[in-house]
Amino acid sequence: MAARWQGRCPGCGEWDGLVAQVDPVVAATPEPLPLGDRPLPIAEVDARGAVPRPTGVLELDRVLGGGLVPGGVTLVGGEPGIGKSTLLLQALAERSGRETTLLVSAEESAQQVRRRADRLGCLAPGLHLLAATTTDAVLAAVEEIEPVLLVVDSVQTVADPALGHTPGSPGQVRAVAAAMGAVAKKRSMATVLVGHVTKDGDLAGPRVLEHLVDTVLSFEGDRHHALRLLRAVKHRFGATGELGLFEMGERGLIGVDDPSGMLLGDRHPGIPGSVVVPVQEGSRILLVEVQALVTGTILNNPRRSVQGLDSGRLAQMVAVLDRHCGISITPLDIHAAVAGGVRVNEPAVDLGLALALASSQAGKALPADVVALGEVGLGGELRQVGSSPRRLAEAARLGFQRAVLPSSAPPPPPGINALRADNLSGALKLVGL
Ligand code: TYD
Ligand code: MG
Repeated sequence: MAARWQGRCPGCGEWDGLVAQVDPVVAATPEPLPLGDRPLPIAEVDARGAVPRPTGVLELDRVLGGGLVPGGVTLVGGEPGIGKSTLLLQALAERSGRETTLLVSAEESAQQVRRRADRLGCLAPGLHLLAATTTDAVLAAVEEIEPVLLVVDSVQTVADPALGHTPGSPGQVRAVAAAMGAVAKKRSMATVLVGHVTKDGDLAGPRVLEHLVDTVLSFEGDRHHALRLLRAVKHRFGATGELGLFEMGERGLIGVDDPSGMLLGDRHPGIPGSVVVPVQEGSRILLVEVQALVTGTILNNPRRSVQGLDSGRLAQMVAVLDRHCGISITPLDIHAAVAGGVRVNEPAVDLGLALALASSQAGKALPADVVALGEVGLGGELRQVGSSPRRLAEAARLGFQRAVLPSSAPPPPPGINALRADNLSGALKLVGL
């Protein structure tokens, strides 16, 4: 195989032996969009049509900005076992009271799915089930029952046998998505494709089809914790960044109303290396516990283990502590994590992380009523972050009384006293480190 024309085969050395193969999906001309045949002033363009319809699963509808759009294709990606099939079965059941829907299961047998539906109370009258692995079978079933909502579980296990590639290969995955997208548009049928993601967070199969679908949702969480996070990575019909939260339990996935309470439920105040940070996910505020453990090492290359945090941020905080605060933990083993399986990417966590590292190194806990909120620059200076009052209001609701903040941060809401500092050294002094 070669990606472009070559006179001589690099494998066997034969001249003119390479035969051009065209990926049928790449080669296919895209479906023409249903646009008018002449340009219109933008204000005269009919904006109706793409109206989302609620699925009835509130946290899912929140992430979708209302629900699934008829004719739209949504990809739900996540690691195996995270709960994708469960989530979609529940969504299908909610929609299937009076309307016809279709679940194509290409991974589990019809019996398995039926048993799960029994257990979860998802035996809705309009919900149809087809165990099949070919696109033709799916398309035939769609023609037959004309569902308003189609779920294909998963896009990696359904295939078009005519293409010859193995199921799950990029060519197949794209072909399946293209076929489903075409029928979705033609029938104005909301379509959801399930896609597995590999352990290292790569949307291995699904990544190749992000541009072929309208919406990409990512379902995340730590399989050992009950909390599941759903977010929109791409959304043609609305905003991304909104977060849906579920708890996986005996009765399937249940929306979580008080995530901060849940996340801090197992926390033991008074342990060195633990700092609570109010982070923002979409429009929601979550109080998370950032934990650090700094220990001596027997290794030449000290260990760095990070969970739920960006390893680059950790490296930066270690460097800033070393250079600007005289706390040298660089040669030591460092473990840092966000408890509860949440992933935090925003710089607002910097200050909390740096304080957690210093607290672990000193073997001294922060006061139990303190949260930390701020970005730390490379010069050790503290910078304010967005939505500070809302974040601190949530901290106050959960009983926290003081917040370590950059000097520039706006006044905190009632119930929270500000402990202000210009830089990280100042912040460390404020909490007795
Ligand atoms: P599943 O939806 O099959 O995950 P995916 O489709 O993403 O691979 O859910 C898998 C896990 O969820 C499985 O380990 C069992 C667990 N689970 C529950 O804890 N409670 C339930 O009610 C269900 C249906 C599953
Ligand atoms: Mg599944």
